[in-house]
Amino acid sequence: MGGLPRNLPRSPSYVLPCIIALAFLSVSAIFLYKVDDFVSQTKTVAGHNLQPTPWHLFPPRTFSKETRQARAFKIIQCSYLTCRYNTRKDNDTESEQRRLSVSSLRTQKCPGFFNFIHNDLQPWAKTRISKDHVMAAKKYAAFRVVIVGGRLYVDLYYACVQSRLMFTVWGLLQLLRRYPGMVPDVDIMFDCMDKPSINRTEHGSFPLPLFRYCTTDAHFDIPFPDWSFWGWPETNIKPWDEQFREIKKGSQKIKWGKKLPHAFWKGNPDVDSPIRTELLQCNHSRKWGAQILRQNWVEEAKSGYEKSKLSNQCNHQYKIYAEGYAWSVSLKYILSCGSLALIISPQYEDFFSRGLIPKENYWPVSPINLCPSIKFAVDWGHAHPLEAEAMGKRGQDFMENLSMDRVYDYMFHLISEYSKLQDFKPVPPSSALPVCAESLLCLADPLQREYLERETAVPSPAAPCGMEPANGNFVRSWIERKKKTIEDVRVMMEKKAMSHAK
Ligand SMILES: *[C@@H]1O[C@H](CO)[C@@H](O)[C@H](O)[C@H]1NC(C)=O
Ligand SMILES: *[C@@H]1O[C@H](CO)[C@@H](O)[C@H](O)[C@H]1NC(C)=O
Ligand SMILES: *[C@@H]1O[C@H](CO)[C@@H](O)[C@H](O)[C@H]1NC(C)=O
Ligand SMILES: *[C@@H]1O[C@H](CO)[C@@H](O)[C@H](O)[C@H]1NC(C)=O
Repeated sequence: MGGLPRNLPRSPSYVLPCIIALAFLSVSAIFLYKVDDFVSQTKTVAGHNLQPTPWHLFPPRTFSKETRQARAFKIIQCSYLTCRYNTRKDNDTESEQRRLSVSSLRTQKCPGFFNFIHNDLQPWAKTRISKDHVMAAKKYAAFRVVIVGGRLYVDLYYACVQSRLMFTVWGLLQLLRRYPGMVPDVDIMFDCMDKPSINRTEHGSFPLPLFRYCTTDAHFDIPFPDWSFWGWPETNIKPWDEQFREIKKGSQKIKWGKKLPHAFWKGNPDVDSPIRTELLQCNHSRKWGAQILRQNWVEEAKSGYEKSKLSNQCNHQYKIYAEGYAWSVSLKYILSCGSLALIISPQYEDFFSRGLIPKENYWPVSPINLCPSIKFAVDWGHAHPLEAEAMGKRGQDFMENLSMDRVYDYMFHLISEYSKLQDFKPVPPSSALPVCAESLLCLADPLQREYLERETAVPSPAAPCGMEPANGNFVRSWIERKKKTIEDVRVMMEKKAMSHAK
């Protein structure tokens, strides 16, 4: 009775491992299935698992041909495992010391257009901003940003075209780095597409707070610096400080007197913009003093953007700005040239364009009688070359003053004033994920990463520029003054036309 009987079925010896293996496989299958499901529900700032905004459709982003597993791994790694190790809880003692030391420094005054922050937030001055306001704005938002204790959370609803989402969130992360411990807790709804949506008439009884890149005086939308200040890899546009320096250098290659004596515009006329379509009619350097060129991004990309390089486009005495589908990021690059900017009266405004003053740092062009208005501006410049040159230079100085430092200051003040109006304590919703610089870079493709890393903030040695208290009169008289000057130019042109007709 020593050994086992030889002819007993040996089932226990191999069935058990089989069952274990089978169980293991099915658990793995279920696990992989669950992971797959989990990954397909994880939305990222790179645009994974997000549909385009229904109010402005665009082709969804295609991701590089990585394998399904590689993508799943990356999404989990970047979204869930990266920030935990890298975000440091703000040290309250350190923050407080920082706040004290920073506020004791003498601060520079903010540029005048910062006063528009009060104007933009005025609709909530009495009612304040409640949780209901924010939740009602969700219907119009592509994403929500919640900052609590210096940490940033995003709740993503829709994809944004190209890299807008990623670069906008990066900008906010850099703001947190620039002013550590100073950015208050906030809960903000954002849309990232071009057109304002909170109509003042329709939403008059219950204004919704929604941040976006531009607004009009018929909308409640709150303007915020657009993504291109941190770079626009799809069009080879560099982060703002670097791009400005490059354009300014390019603009100095040719002296004013040697620049071509007409008005130049190069861009995409096929963006559903009536004014750009009309502008094509003015393409005649003798008759209208203008040269209008079509930008072909596909061709430019092939030739390495050499021809579309912004720093090579400052060879004309006059440069035209025409709005696109809404406001256009090109305004800042056009003004940076130091040529006299001929700005066709814009319908949309972004956060800084409201600071521009006609006949001071640009020439206002009427959209009515467009080609003759351009010709009139060019003729005026030829008759007053010193003044035209000085006006162009002041436009360039205005843009130089708007350094990234000032852009962060604008974000800081806008967010601070907005947060003062909140009548609730922001809490990240359960669907929101924390985002930190490392997790965002983790999701970026190599080109995006290269751009993002070029615009990283360091803690500011000084406090943000000093903002003036709310003063409705300031903004009102500013707007009146602009209107009057634009009207003066219109009358000048009319008089000239009449004297010619005689
Ligand atoms: C915060 O910073 C202060 C001053 O540097 C230090 O004494 C303190 O231990 C820090 N606290 C924490 C929780 O790290
Ligand atoms: C705002 O809404 C009103 C009423 O529906 C409409 O007449 C007006 O054109 C809208 N304004 C804008 C700028 O869309
Ligand atoms: C404008 O005119 C120039 C010279 O005649 C031409 O080369 C260019 O293609 C024209 N631009 C457009 C947009 O048609
Ligand atoms: C630039 O900023 C300085 C200092 O705030 C100011 O004096 C100057 O007028 C500004 N220039 C323009 C063109 O806005």
